[in-house]
Amino acid sequence: MILPIYLYGNPVLRKKSKDIDKDYPNLNELIDDMFETMYKADGIGLAAPQIGKNINLITIDARVLAKDEPEMADFLRVFINPNITFNTEDTIAIEEGCLSLPGINENVNRIEDLTIEYYDRDFNKVSENLIGYPAIVVQHEYDHLNGIMFVDKISTIRKRFVKNKLNNITKGKVATSYKVKL
Ligand code: NI
Repeated sequence: MILPIYLYGNPVLRKKSKDIDKDYPNLNELIDDMFETMYKADGIGLAAPQIGKNINLITIDARVLAKDEPEMADFLRVFINPNITFNTEDTIAIEEGCLSLPGINENVNRIEDLTIEYYDRDFNKVSENLIGYPAIVVQHEYDHLNGIMFVDKISTIRKRFVKNKLNNITKGKVATSYKVKL
């Protein structure tokens, strides 16, 4: 089932999410719905707050980027209750976008090397080292679980530049090819 994607301005995107256990109601269906919703919107990552649920759950399928970023070739993941530790202070920046912030793309500095511990969709405990592009994608989604959005992390000048666009999104004055919720 395709779910509406909550837009910037909705308070659900600003709350801290909670861990879940394997008895969370209809978890498998929810994960399937998140993938379906993400694919329909041409996204590569989705965090549960973006479909209105403040739980620590992320879906990512970035395999479409493998043509330019070979390390993405098998980057299909479900992250449940993730925890990130950074392995360096070195940062890299690429232009990011977000399904909750349609029409905005900005460079964001991100740590380039991290370890993420999480449960997969079968609730196996996993620890994974991610470097470069996969580390960026994961940090973007992980931020959503803490109520943080990428526009919080751009420079003051760029913030001023996107202010009108943000105001328009909060008023629903934005065109998307996918179902949204204010
Ligand atoms: Ni996002």
